[in-house]
Amino acid sequence: MAGLIPQTFIDTLLEQIDIVDVIDGRVKLKKSGRNYTARCPFHDEKTPSFSVNQEKQFYYCFGCGASGNAIGFIMNYENTDFPKAIESLANTLGLEIPQETKSLRNAKHFESGKSYKPLYECLSQVSKFYQSQLREHPAANRAIAYLKERGLTGKIAKDFEIGFAPPGWNNLINNLGSSESDQQKLLDTGMIVKNEAGKTYDRFRDRIIFPIRDRQGRVVAFGGRVLGNDKPKYLNSPETSIFHKSSELYGLYEAKLSNRSLTKLLVTEGYLDVIALAQFGIDYSVATLGTSTNQKHLERIFRLCPEVIFCFDGDQAGRNAALKALEATLPTMLDGRQARFLFLPEGEDPDTLIRAKGKDYLESLISSAKPLEEFLFDTLNKDINMETMEGRARFSKIALPYLNRLPAGVFRELMLQELANKTGISKSSLSYDDENAIKPPQEFKEKSNPSTAITSDKSNNQSYESNPSYFINAAIKLLLHRPSLAHQVDQSILNKLENKAAITLRDSIIILKKNSSPTSALLLGHWHGTNNEELIKKLANEEQLVPEKGIEVQFHDAIAKILQNYDQSTISLEIAALKSKSYSSITEEEKKRLVKLLQMKQNMEE
Ligand code: UTP
Ligand code: MN
Repeated sequence: MAGLIPQTFIDTLLEQIDIVDVIDGRVKLKKSGRNYTARCPFHDEKTPSFSVNQEKQFYYCFGCGASGNAIGFIMNYENTDFPKAIESLANTLGLEIPQETKSLRNAKHFESGKSYKPLYECLSQVSKFYQSQLREHPAANRAIAYLKERGLTGKIAKDFEIGFAPPGWNNLINNLGSSESDQQKLLDTGMIVKNEAGKTYDRFRDRIIFPIRDRQGRVVAFGGRVLGNDKPKYLNSPETSIFHKSSELYGLYEAKLSNRSLTKLLVTEGYLDVIALAQFGIDYSVATLGTSTNQKHLERIFRLCPEVIFCFDGDQAGRNAALKALEATLPTMLDGRQARFLFLPEGEDPDTLIRAKGKDYLESLISSAKPLEEFLFDTLNKDINMETMEGRARFSKIALPYLNRLPAGVFRELMLQELANKTGISKSSLSYDDENAIKPPQEFKEKSNPSTAITSDKSNNQSYESNPSYFINAAIKLLLHRPSLAHQVDQSILNKLENKAAITLRDSIIILKKNSSPTSALLLGHWHGTNNEELIKKLANEEQLVPEKGIEVQFHDAIAKILQNYDQSTISLEIAALKSKSYSSITEEEKKRLVKLLQMKQNMEE
């Protein structure tokens, strides 16, 4: 079977996958110097001697000698064969494995089956060429003068491998494009451009060159700046098969290189911001490449460190960019992560500021950056009069869609609570629409359908507490975290949990109660092979996000909520349906009904 997978596909796979991601998903790695380490999964040890080198895409254990690439790791770790390991890696990338036994056409059809190695090699050569030109080209003195005028030191230029694309149209072809295949590579990497007449010429001419390196340190693209005030100020490589502008972050590789372990990353807007910050000792900044920050950026950042600080110009454009960044950040805010927003004085950027005021000043600004929650609420209620009831109602309507984009967790709950505090609307009656949350079982939904004629056009727009699975799952998660909690649930409560939706929770408690010192393995074992296996496993995976503090209170809270839900769900669904109506379309009668329902619910909660 192994021979049937084209070698080109295997190469592509290894080029696209990052061994650090592959291993970290299975054995938690710790950054240590240039490498990542862990206790070796292949032999018993107390101190970590297992090491992963991201640049070489290779692991090695100094204790037992195990070593290999990502495929070898999977084979060893999952005790599986080569094709299965390939399959597992291909799945994580969403790639389909081409089979050479199938028609030849099919294999050919798999375009990305070709190796990108030559393209990386080509750009590595181009980068070296541009760096040499900065030292040697007769016109380079203007480039050096410009860099000096901007305050860059020789050392920082070297660290960031800054180069110079000399004036002229054919420098790359003349120096690196002797064969047709070399020229093709220059074309495929976007370094030369072909015009309509079929003539090729250099993309970057008479520009300072900033190589953009991917997370493994491979050059994947360049940015080029004019030496003066000409337009366009910056040119960037186009999208290619190895460069996707919207997912790379300039300076990320360099930041990783100079930090043993990153605790935070500062997101700026420009190449020269990153470089100036690093020159002055703030070596944890990155820049997006002329695009706004997106979710892919954030995922990448949060995989490396728990905190991100966005840095914006204080003007309106900066405010707009900040709002976009905020929107991209919300879905990535798992518990334990933090995002903050920093607005610089108008007209300044990190480059000008750090040069004028120094590192300490900038770090003081960074440490005073607004936390996401503050920025969000401040931005949204800017034009709203929170003194009036109408204003507060409008505020809750505007804010909820934002909060609903947060992943389920303690942070989200706290944010909802904060919104409740600010608006005076109880947290549980803030309507709720969560794609991430596990949906209540069908029979429960049907049973609790409101009898009124008012229907919601959004089928999943239910009120918060009418989604019983949320609290049921929360309770199970807490049980997995601390199984002994089961002993605190007495029979009278168990009797009340005899509803279909809560049966898994009830059975879980009963099983744990039978054991004087129960373990989570007991639960996993019990549900193994049943319909609930997936759910329990999923909850067990999330279990690590449970904060130790207040765990008992949370558990009893969840149980109390579940018990309440049965009485409240009907009312809640009606409330949700009414609240989903727009402010202008709701009738006076419906408004009165809504107030009444809210009062009824408040009474139940007290
Ligand atoms: P800025 O114009 O804010 O750049 O653009 P900057 O870094 O402060 O430039 P200097 O200090 O004058 O050199 C920020 C980023 O937007 C992209 C680049 O990625 C740049 O770093 N940009 C800007 C372009 O792609 N093209 C442009 O013409 C201008
Ligand atoms: Mn600038």
